Amino acid sequence: MKIIKLNAIDSTNSFLKEMVIDSVVENFTVVVAESQIKGRGQQDSLWLSEPFKNLTFSVYISFKNFKIKHKKNLLFAISLAVYEAIIKETKLHISIKWPNDILSGNKKICGILVENSIQKDKIRHSVVGIGLNVNQINFSEAINKVSSLKLLTQKNYDLDVLLKTIVSKLKKRINQLENKEFEKLEADYLKVLYKKNTPTMFKDSKGVLFMGFISGISKEGLLQIELEDETIREFGIKEVSFA
Ligand code: BTN
Repeated sequence: MKIIKLNAIDSTNSFLKEMVIDSVVENFTVVVAESQIKGRGQQDSLWLSEPFKNLTFSVYISFKNFKIKHKKNLLFAISLAVYEAIIKETKLHISIKWPNDILSGNKKICGILVENSIQKDKIRHSVVGIGLNVNQINFSEAINKVSSLKLLTQKNYDLDVLLKTIVSKLKKRINQLENKEFEKLEADYLKVLYKKNTPTMFKDSKGVLFMGFISGISKEGLLQIELEDETIREFGIKEVSFA
């Protein structure tokens, strides 16, 4: 496994994407930074992480020998790998919040930003950015929304060990993807999906509140919520939130 360690960088995802443009990059190359000046999150948000305390890294995954048609299977594989690695190292009870946040209870401990290079409708390669809150114990964000491994277990973790476990689990799950084990990936993902089959209050993009429960993920990767009248509504990432 090729690991590039940086002290400070704007964003490991941006750095690795530039590398891919400028040079030939080995599959599963990792870029890890002790601190990010402009860490990027989903939907143009910022990813804040205290320097030296947490894992902020990106992994290059190339799909030269096989073609991925459905992004959802890739997201299943990646989030399951991170989920499994955290459990292996911490024994915490955690879940995956659709599409790919890792939560302990209601608190986010890890965010994943997958940036794909698409040609002719197919994903050619991905830069998978992972921000895992490890040994940080003070957060400026509302503490009822975020947490870290240390806050949850009162233990310090070795960042290198965690990184290696995540990459090794990623290789296994990406291998399943290559072997077209889509049903297994989806079944495993749904088993650990946050609030699956649990009556919950949601808010749609117009701010309208409604009750329902998450029943699955559509073929296109949309979140399916079953309403009280048993109809199913489907939502994209920006179209629904937990109320
Ligand atoms: C999210 O919003 O939940 C996704 C956060 C992803 C953060 C990671 S940290 C390493 C990599 N580099 C970035 O700029 N972002 C990702």
